[in-house]
Amino acid sequence: MQNMNHLTVDKFVAASFDSFHDGRSVSTQAPSNIALVKYWGKYDNQIPANPSISFTLSKCATTTNVKYSLLEKTSTAVSFEFLFEGNPKPSFEPKLKDYFNRISAYVPFLNQYHLRIDSKNTFPHSSGIASSASAMAALSLCLLEIEKSLNPSISKTYYNQKASFLARLGSGSACRSIEGPIVSWGKHREIKQSSDLFGTPFEENVHEVFQDYRDTILLVHKGQKQVSSTVGHKLMDNHPYASSRFDHAHQNLSEIIQVLTSGDLKRFIEIVENEALTLHAMMMTSIPYFILMKPNTLAIIERIWRFRGETETPLCFTLDAGANVHLLYPSKSEKKVLQFIKNELVVYCENGQYICDQVGTGAKLI
Ligand code: DP6
Repeated sequence: MQNMNHLTVDKFVAASFDSFHDGRSVSTQAPSNIALVKYWGKYDNQIPANPSISFTLSKCATTTNVKYSLLEKTSTAVSFEFLFEGNPKPSFEPKLKDYFNRISAYVPFLNQYHLRIDSKNTFPHSSGIASSASAMAALSLCLLEIEKSLNPSISKTYYNQKASFLARLGSGSACRSIEGPIVSWGKHREIKQSSDLFGTPFEENVHEVFQDYRDTILLVHKGQKQVSSTVGHKLMDNHPYASSRFDHAHQNLSEIIQVLTSGDLKRFIEIVENEALTLHAMMMTSIPYFILMKPNTLAIIERIWRFRGETETPLCFTLDAGANVHLLYPSKSEKKVLQFIKNELVVYCENGQYICDQVGTGAKLI
């Protein structure tokens, strides 16, 4: 898709520096996030086709360490090596190379350095959980920290916005993982400061029920993603329902921001489940078409609806572009929901695995 916006990105070009530190290291940790209103479809330069909003998580996270040492001669491209859990991981390098090409104009100081990037996830390897959001957020925060060490006067707002801006250029949803507990991304007429360029923390009075909301992720299918995000977003180019979907996301976002303030869980559940099913409906009606839910995904959804009908527990589900199911519920329902998972849902999880997470505050230095 072509991006019709003319965007002002100049403010994110770092100042030029004439002295650099050598042999330093920075470590960050960034969480994953779960979208309530989904980002699906994008224009050039990682501009979203519609605005989205997510809960920032806390336990599913990536920890990244960057050691930066001065090169003898300024490089023309960013010089880096990538390790995953301490071991070289050449398969990640092309994605990182693209990322550095996209961001190089904003972080020219990186050309003075060789970067040794070492990353690890807190969630099980190949659990089928999207790790690009936490990974790109953690790395981008490291880069901002390097910029800050060269320019300590940058403001907190600039620091967070630019970290989110860089993260977006790595993976769209990553821009929602820098801050928390709720972050929107993409221009929306009712959200002040909203931008297509970076995530914006949702600053209205968030109802207390959402401040420690739970997300238990049922690992239904742990294999490789059947549809990569690059392929997935492209399915919205020339999709017959694209323009109504984008309007629908604006509408759902307008409503969910009211709900996040009022605490209306009935409407929250309706919007969140509708968004998840709409995302999958888009995949089922594109060319090529995909069904990413597995039979166990549907079995879980049916059980959730029955449990909700019988117990009135405000438990709902959401899905990403895969078969795993995120169960969202208030902390006060935790005991009941965990018992329900053990009694009825765990049988649908691969190796009985699920991950208990909750809303969190965003990326941090460690
Ligand atoms: C279904 O952020 O992974 O999870 O920008 O191509 O890296 P890229 O896509 P990505 O897409 C996430 C899509 C989603 C919905 C969401 O998180 O909003």
